Amino acid sequence: MGKLGLLLLLLLLVSLFALKLNNRARRAKRYLPANGFRGVWLNYSDSVWNFFRAKSAIRDACFGFSGSLFTFSLLGQWVVLAMEKDHVRELCNAPEDVLSMEAAAEELLQLRHTVGPLFSDELYHIPVIRTKLNLNLEEIFPPLVDEIHAAFSDIINTQIGEADWASIKVLSTFSRIICRATNRILVGNHLCRNEEYCKLASGFTNDVLSIGPVLKFLVPKFLRPLVGMAYRSLFSHQKRMETLLKPLIKDRRRLRHDPASDIPNDMLSWLMEASPLNEEYSTESLSMRMLNVNFVALHTTTKTFTHAIYCLASQPQYISILRAEVEQQLDSGDTTTWTRDALGRCVKLDSFLKETLRLHGLGAIWMPRLAVSDFSFSDGTNIPPGYFVATAATAVHENDALYENSRDFNGLRFSSMRKGTFGRPETEKDWQYKMTSNSESYLAFGGGRHLCPGRFFASMEMKCLMAYLVLRYDLKTLKDGVRPPDEWFGPTSNPARNARVLFHRRKDFPSASMN
Ligand code: HEM
Repeated sequence: MGKLGLLLLLLLLVSLFALKLNNRARRAKRYLPANGFRGVWLNYSDSVWNFFRAKSAIRDACFGFSGSLFTFSLLGQWVVLAMEKDHVRELCNAPEDVLSMEAAAEELLQLRHTVGPLFSDELYHIPVIRTKLNLNLEEIFPPLVDEIHAAFSDIINTQIGEADWASIKVLSTFSRIICRATNRILVGNHLCRNEEYCKLASGFTNDVLSIGPVLKFLVPKFLRPLVGMAYRSLFSHQKRMETLLKPLIKDRRRLRHDPASDIPNDMLSWLMEASPLNEEYSTESLSMRMLNVNFVALHTTTKTFTHAIYCLASQPQYISILRAEVEQQLDSGDTTTWTRDALGRCVKLDSFLKETLRLHGLGAIWMPRLAVSDFSFSDGTNIPPGYFVATAATAVHENDALYENSRDFNGLRFSSMRKGTFGRPETEKDWQYKMTSNSESYLAFGGGRHLCPGRFFASMEMKCLMAYLVLRYDLKTLKDGVRPPDEWFGPTSNPARNARVLFHRRKDFPSASMN
């Protein structure tokens, strides 16, 4: 095929996309306003243009339509967006068999093809996180702190060496630290330090998140099973996880049958315990669950914590504020004395991280749901099956009607609203200003039936990391006061991938020799 043939084929494909979008737009517009231009080609070019300026386009549309529901086009896909409180609440609480999160994830990430059907068919890790992980937060606190201490020593201190100030690539460094600390609680202290395991656990999410949209937008439906199969055999995430977990699972099975044994208190044991009576989950099934837990836990926490470091390093006045609070609540020299209770009293630390998530969450469009049957909002708007509905998260979080000077970072925004700070007892209302609380105006952890069950663990882990960091290090950005800008890919935001921050190991730290 010559160049002209290729050009014609490309034109045909784009026209088909544009026509499809236009038909859907016509149907959608019967109900709702839509952002952008009218007409087949303009609609399509608009949806491409929206991709490159998703955050501001959504914000403009939200305020242009005064908070009512509207349709937004993105790369040939229409999404109905909600920002007003009632709409957000109704979306969050809609039943799974009407507005489905699982169907949306499947469609957007093509998980069935990229990871295999078992990944989404079995979901027993969710009740295990909701119950076992959350009920064991007190017990897992000491090993978590221990791993953070060891990981900082191995990964940060070796990079600093004898330097006064060392420049450290934040995202890749904290991806390793968070992978180790989290997996200490998932699979114990042996495997969490295994390089091959950590590469697989932290690389898995990136691999899946990058190939999913490629499959959805560039590969025709009938070819997806074939491309997916090739991808799975090339990356073989599940097989590699199975090989790494096999000896551990074998050992745990032996312990489970020995009444005198001490079974480790970690995610692998809890998943194994969750099996139905007189049945054992297979190694294949447990390996897939472990991939799934790593999938939901690692990139979310790593991205958020990297954002927090960029906020801290660019506004170093917060370092002394947070350090003073941590020194008051926790023993600076001896991390073995740290308790979850004492960490919980660090309200400024909590507020700083909550504010980070408010302004630097996971993206502009959040909580996507695919309508699998007709859904009606209480204002009468009908969403036919096949439509995506989601929340305009950044427009909610950056709304001056909800947050004073909403686009400014105020690390103490939430702690200053808590009555139970500075020695005063907590009030009933204080919970709403804690990092783990959610509402229609704070969507960082989602809401309704799919509200993040791992948020208590994530909050505890990030607060431990931050407490450890401010006690032992000073930070600054390469250019004083300039925060590495967020990187946007369509509606998804990421902390600057390759940015570096200067780290200084405190000499006046009470027991620096303990490391
Ligand atoms: C800063 C860290 C985290 C953030 C910002 C975050 C955010 C979210 C959000 C927004 C949702 C809801 C998605 C939706 O409704 O479409 C969610 C769901 C979920 N998260 Fe998290 N998450 C974090 C950490 C974790 C951790 C550490 C775990 C596990 C230990 C976890 C486990 C889950 C699971 C299993 C779901 C699905 C719940 C369901 O379908 O019912 N998350 N998360």
